[in-house]
Amino acid sequence: MSAGRWSGGSPAVEQAVRTLRSGGLVAIPTETVYGLGADAENVGAVERVFAVKGRPPTHPLIVHIGGAHQLDDWAAEVPEPARRIAERFWPGPLTLVLRRSRRVPDAVTGGLETVALRVPAHPAALDVLTAFGGGVAAPSANRFGHVSPTTADHVVEGLGADVDYVLDGGPCEVGVESTILDLTDEPVILRPGGVAREELAKVMGVPVRVGAKAAVRVPGQHPSHYAPRARVCLVEPDRVVDEAERLREKGHRPGVLLPSAYASRSASPAGQVVVEVPHADEEYARRLYEFLRHFDRRRCDVVVASLPEPRGIGLAIADRLRRAAGPRDATPREP
Ligand code: TXA
Ligand code: MG
Repeated sequence: MSAGRWSGGSPAVEQAVRTLRSGGLVAIPTETVYGLGADAENVGAVERVFAVKGRPPTHPLIVHIGGAHQLDDWAAEVPEPARRIAERFWPGPLTLVLRRSRRVPDAVTGGLETVALRVPAHPAALDVLTAFGGGVAAPSANRFGHVSPTTADHVVEGLGADVDYVLDGGPCEVGVESTILDLTDEPVILRPGGVAREELAKVMGVPVRVGAKAAVRVPGQHPSHYAPRARVCLVEPDRVVDEAERLREKGHRPGVLLPSAYASRSASPAGQVVVEVPHADEEYARRLYEFLRHFDRRRCDVVVASLPEPRGIGLAIADRLRRAAGPRDATPREP
C-alpha cells in the first residue's frame, strides 16, 4: 500500500487514477467519509472491494461519477425530479437510487435492477473522477459493520495493506455518510445523511418519507452498523450523567457523549471518558465517528448518549447512534 497527499491536481491524483485503471483499490476522500474505490466496470476489482470489506456480495455499492451530466450513462430512466435534485444537490452528500443502465455490472448492484449514484463534493474526489472518466464503485473504506473512516489514518488503521493506494485529502467535512434517496417510485429516504430531509422536500415540493424498502438489501440499514466496540446505551439527555455514574459504579468504564446543555455538571468524573457534544449538529456530525473511535481507544466498554433532535443533520446523527445501540451480530470487531 502507498499513500499520497492531495494538493490540487497533484501527482497523487495521477497515481490514484493509474491504480484504478490497473484494477487496484484506492481510498478516496469525500466530503462525507473516505470511500474504498474501484473501477465500477472492472468486475474483478469490484469483487475485491467486497472481499476486503468482508461484505456479502448481495449488498450493493454506490457508483461515484464526476458530474450530473453523466447521469444518463449509468441510469436507464432519469425522472424529472431526479434531474432537478441532482442539479440542486450535486456535487454533495446525496445518493440517488435509479433504474440502472446496461453499463452497470451485476457485481456492483448484487443483481438489483437499480443503481445508487453520487457526485461527491470533495475537490480531490472530483479531480480523480474527472481524470478517470468512468464510474468509481466505492463503499465506505471500513470493514463491514465497523465505524466509517473520516481521515486517511482511519483507513490505514482499518484496512492496512488491503488497499493499494490511499489518497489523503484531509479530514472529511460532513463526517456522516450521504443521504440515500430512492426515486424509482414514491420518493423515500433509505438512509438519512448529509442532505436534510427538509431540504429535499422543499426542492421536490412533496413530503419525503424516511423508510426502508422491503425488497432492497441495504447494509446501512442493518441495526449493527456504524458500531464502535463498546455497547451504546441511549437515554434522555437529562439522564446521561446519572446513567454513566450508575454504570461506573457497577464496574463499567463508560464513554459519555454529554449534551452541551449539561456540560457544566461534568467535572470529568474518575473512571469515565467524557466528551462534550458540540452545540451545532453540523459539528457533531463531523466529529461523531472520531468520538466513537476515541471511546474504543480509551477502552470504554459502554457509551452513554442521548439522541439529538431529528431535524437537519440531527436525523442522520440519531440514525447512526440508534444503529450503534442496536443488536450486534457475529461480525468480528476490529482488534
Ligand atoms: O457518503 C457515502 O455514501 C459514502 C461515500 C464513500 O460516498 N459511501 C457509503 O457507501 O456510505 P456504503 O457502501 O458504506 O453505503 C452505501 C449504501 C449501502 O447501504 C447500500 O446498500 C446502499 O447504499 N445502496 C447501494 N446501491 C443501492 C441500490 N441500488 N438500492 C438501494 N440501496 C443501495
Ligand atoms: Mg458503510
